[in-house]
Amino acid sequence: PQVTIVGAGNVGRTLAQRVAEKNLADVVLIDIVEGLPQGVALDLIEAQGIESHDSQIIGTNNYEDTAGSDIVVITAGLARKPGMSRDDLLQVNAKIVYEAAQKAVKQSPNAVFIVITNPLDVMTYLTWKATGLPHQRVMGMAGVLDSSRLQTFIAMELKVSTADVTTMVLGGHGDLMLPLPRYCTVSGVPITELMDAATIERLVDRTRNGGAEIVKLLQTGGAYYAPASSASLMVESIIRNQSRLLPTAAYLQGQYGLNDIYLGVPCHLGCRGVEKIFEVNLTEEERSALHVSAESVRENLKIALA
Ligand code: NAI
Repeated sequence: PQVTIVGAGNVGRTLAQRVAEKNLADVVLIDIVEGLPQGVALDLIEAQGIESHDSQIIGTNNYEDTAGSDIVVITAGLARKPGMSRDDLLQVNAKIVYEAAQKAVKQSPNAVFIVITNPLDVMTYLTWKATGLPHQRVMGMAGVLDSSRLQTFIAMELKVSTADVTTMVLGGHGDLMLPLPRYCTVSGVPITELMDAATIERLVDRTRNGGAEIVKLLQTGGAYYAPASSASLMVESIIRNQSRLLPTAAYLQGQYGLNDIYLGVPCHLGCRGVEKIFEVNLTEEERSALHVSAESVRENLKIALA
């Protein structure tokens, strides 16, 4: 299989490394800057013998080299600087993502598209529009990352193995995301049994601000190791048709009482993309928080589509 990654910046190149070194697929890295994807690809392939993988990695500025890809991941665009919200990236990234999606789908009409560029839920909707693909074949990555941040914070707090913690974060990839402590467990034990409400709220808050915490520390851009790992998990579930149940920005048609919007919900990911959307039971409070998150995505979508 072949994965095209649009944008050879921090997230794109780290994802290329994960995909290649896990032997998931050959990788085509494409970027607008001449030399950049070629240089990154050469650097990565020079480690092939040491890392013992069989994946080919090429860098290009030409979409024709991406032809016939099974998956296209879009990371092209600006990342946040300290003090910026994801929404501040809206106008400039909308244009970049729309054009990239149009060019990529021409070469790979059968691909599944995974969008990473922020603001995530809006960029995913734009990619769906730009490609004209069935909505099942266009999705966004955010919930896996937000869930893995919460997973990490719970493990750190309880001093347990991260592997024993399962978490679920739904909603838009923004300050209004919806971590669901009721659905978080340590080896099946609900965290509500293991921590008091104030501690849970503190970890939920840290998750909501998890991206900003890293932007502030790095000063030069956003997170990319955990985002790349999160995207590679989705790539793997699709390429290997694993049907992993992963929180994914998917197109809603009535689920959770929402229509015509991309938003983070639990989905089975397989070779056809979003194979199934799961509707978990939400309390009235959770459901209205999800709708508030959806409203803010809709407002940005209006601006982007105007
Ligand atoms: P970066 O600045 O390191 O890389 C972006 C790359 O896109 C650059 O190499 C740039 O040359 C390229 N690019 C710009 N315009 C392009 C075009 N028209 N065609 C092809 N390539 C183009 O940024 P980074 O850190 O890799 O982040 C990328 C995006 O992913 C940002 O929007 C960021 O906010 C988002 N992000 C989203 C996450 C999520 O959970 N959904 C997590 C982390 C980042």
